[in-house]
Amino acid sequence: MGKETSASAGIVLSGLAKSYGPVKAVRGIDLTITPGETVALLGPNGAGKSTTIDMILGLAQPNAGRVTVFGMPPATAVASGRIGGMLQTGSLVEYLTVRELVEMVASMYPHPLDVHQVLEATGTSAFAGQRTTGLSGGQTQRVRFALALVANPDLLVLDEPTAALDVEARRDFWSSMRSVAQRGKTVLFATHYLEEADAYADRIVLMARGRVIADGPSTEIKAKVGGRTIRATLPGVDGSALEALPGVTAVDRRGEAVVLSCGDSDAALRALLATYPVARDIEVRGAGLEEAFIQLVGDDEEMEEVEGS
Ligand SMILES: Nc1ncnc2c1ncn2[C@@H]1O[C@H](COP(=O)(O)OP(=O)(O)OP(=O)(O)O)[C@@H](O)[C@H]1O
Ligand SMILES: [Mg+2]
Repeated sequence: MGKETSASAGIVLSGLAKSYGPVKAVRGIDLTITPGETVALLGPNGAGKSTTIDMILGLAQPNAGRVTVFGMPPATAVASGRIGGMLQTGSLVEYLTVRELVEMVASMYPHPLDVHQVLEATGTSAFAGQRTTGLSGGQTQRVRFALALVANPDLLVLDEPTAALDVEARRDFWSSMRSVAQRGKTVLFATHYLEEADAYADRIVLMARGRVIADGPSTEIKAKVGGRTIRATLPGVDGSALEALPGVTAVDRRGEAVVLSCGDSDAALRALLATYPVARDIEVRGAGLEEAFIQLVGDDEEMEEVEGS
C-alpha cells in the first residue's frame, strides 16, 4: 500500500507503539483500513485493542509511529466531526436528559444528523426524556452509540459496542450498524463476540500482546488454521494407531469418542472407515473462528516463549 497518506486513505497506522511504564501495550502496528470497510478488532484481554482505538481517536499519544485518519492527525479528524467514537469506559455527562445530551453533541459538529432520527435508530427514544444518571448499562451503551452517530461521521470507531447489551439489543444494534455501513461509512469495532466479527465484519484483525497476528476476511482466518476435525465413537482403539492414519495430525480421546485433527480430512475419513469399520456417529467439522482464534493466539504465545521477549 505504501504511501497512502492522502485523504483517500481511511485509517493508516504505521509503526504504531505505546507503552504505559513497563507495559508495552502496543508494539508496532502497521495497518491500513480503506474507506467503506467494516473491520473487527479481536484479541484476548490486554491485547492492546483499546489502546489502539484510543490512539486512533487521539485520546492517547503514541510513543512511536503515527496514525492518520483521512489523511489528517486524529485530533483534527475528530474536531471536524469525521470520526465518531464509542469508548469502552467513561461516564456520560450528568444532569442532562438523553435528548439534551444528544442535541448538545449534535450542536458541536458542522453536519450533524437529525437528532430525532438518531434517537429512533439507536433505540433511545423510549428513554430520551430520562436523565443520563439513571440509565441501565445497556441503555447507557445505546446512548454512547447515539453520541457516536449524531455527528454524522465518516468513520465510526467502537470499543466493544455490545458489551452490556442483551441478545435482542445486540441484534437491534447490528441492524442499525448495518444500515450505517451501507451508507459507505468506515467502521472499526473491537469485540469479544467472535460470531459478531464473523457476521458483520468484512475483515478481521486479530491482536495479541500488542501486535497484529492475523489480518484478513474471516474465511481466510479460519482457513489459516486449516484443518477440519473428525469426531467418531470408536472405543478401544489406541490413539497412536489413529495418529498414524493418513491425513491425521493429532488425536484427542474423550471417553468412547475420538477427535481427529486433520490436515486432509478426506484421506483421513477414508482411512478411518477402511481400517475401523465399527467407527460410528461420524461428524466432520470445519474450523470455526473460535478454534482459529484460540490456535492463533496460542501459537503467538509459544513463539513468545521461544523468542523470550
Ligand atoms: N492507562 C493505562 N495505564 C497503564 N496500563 C494500561 C493503561 N491502559 C492499558 N494498559 C495496559 O496495556 C495493555 C493493553 O490494554 P488494552 O486496554 O489496550 O487491552 P484490550 O485489548 O482493550 O483488552 P480488553 O479486551 O480487556 O478490553 C494491558 O496490559 C493494560 O493493562
Ligand atoms: Mg479494551
